[in-house]
Amino acid sequence: MREVAIIGIGMNKWGELWEKSLRDIAVEAALLCLDDAGTDKIDSIVIGNMSGGLFNGQEHLASLIPDYLGRRYTPSTRVESACASGGLAIRTAFLEVASGMSDYALAIGVEKMNDISGGEATYALASAADRDYEAFHGVTFPGLYAMIARAHMQKYGTTREQLAQVAVKNHYNGSMNPHAQFPYQVTLEQVLTSTLVADPLRLLDCSPITDGAAAVLLTTVENAKKLKNHPLVVISGIGLASDTIALSHREDITKLKVVELAGQRALKMANKTIKDINFAEVHDCFTIAEIAVIEALGIVEHGQGGPATLAGKTALNGDFPVNPSGGLKSKGHPVGATGVAQIVETVSQLRRTSGKRQIKNAKIGLTQNMGGSGGSCVVHILETK
Ligand code: COA
Repeated sequence: MREVAIIGIGMNKWGELWEKSLRDIAVEAALLCLDDAGTDKIDSIVIGNMSGGLFNGQEHLASLIPDYLGRRYTPSTRVESACASGGLAIRTAFLEVASGMSDYALAIGVEKMNDISGGEATYALASAADRDYEAFHGVTFPGLYAMIARAHMQKYGTTREQLAQVAVKNHYNGSMNPHAQFPYQVTLEQVLTSTLVADPLRLLDCSPITDGAAAVLLTTVENAKKLKNHPLVVISGIGLASDTIALSHREDITKLKVVELAGQRALKMANKTIKDINFAEVHDCFTIAEIAVIEALGIVEHGQGGPATLAGKTALNGDFPVNPSGGLKSKGHPVGATGVAQIVETVSQLRRTSGKRQIKNAKIGLTQNMGGSGGSCVVHILETK
């Protein structure tokens, strides 16, 4: 395999983008990325998108987006793994370059979720759960994660305050991110008294419905060294795993086995342990998800995610900063774009261009992008060289 570097990153401002279409936001992110890379070479395009069909009545994005990017005839693929579609797009683009199939591979993540009603969006998102055994019976994603939260509270004594602190921390980080959908701070009290969505989860425990896109350009380390536009950032590890789609088929719903396995695979490939990692962008689609994810990755012991968060371990100035971008909670969660945007933030941190939210000593970063309630997961490890 050839060594792979990231030479370009781009993303637009996320939120409710009424004046733009699905293709507009995908192309906008791609152009920002090419501008950042200082090259317009593209041998292949990989698009991460969960459900253009249900959100926009538009499939066949592997034709639509290259066409509007002015890259008609380019080999192009669309990949889907629910909310992990973006992470999967990065992995697929990595394989294009590592295998020698492409010298330059562009990964674009995109989702435009606000063009339909909230109820329709909830239905579309539920297609990432088990339709027969979960969604058909009325359970939604807030409902599934509420069950995980309740089980975690019973097993480990995790408290409402500990869950809320995830939102407080991520909104604080996101308040310094100009791309974020909700770039403002919230207090513990505001989270604890926000509208109840699915007990024990409240509005401010949830990631929002978001329109957004992000793009990343990959090439060989050799090519990246010739360009010299930015500090060299390489992808040194990738882990992919899958698990049961239905929560009821798991031995213990408080443990995200899929995250543990993807994390271990990525660390093994990078020849690292979790102690070597300086910071992480993780999939906080609900506050409980960040707690369960940092436990599954081994950042903290099982049951310690809540206390560690409340004690500030994962804060921007803590021992192990988590979600410096603001995470899905504050930055937003356009499902197919999220995994690509995690890479954008990690590269920005490694280049030391993250402004007020820059992490000191950021040399090795980890991204964790998850499908549904843990049915699939992609972990990446990025390093400066
Ligand atoms: N965090 C903070 N504020 C939020 C928010 C969130 N997650 N979601 C909505 N808001 C705000 C809106 O901006 C709006 O504010 P305003 O009145 O000042 O304009 C207000 O809350 C009401 O917004 P609305 O869109 O009517 O909310 P809703 O009740 O329809 O939806 C949720 C709220 C939590 C149900 C919805 O965001 C949701 O389903 N989130 C989960 C998405 C999901 O499951 N993703 C996949 C994960 S696996």
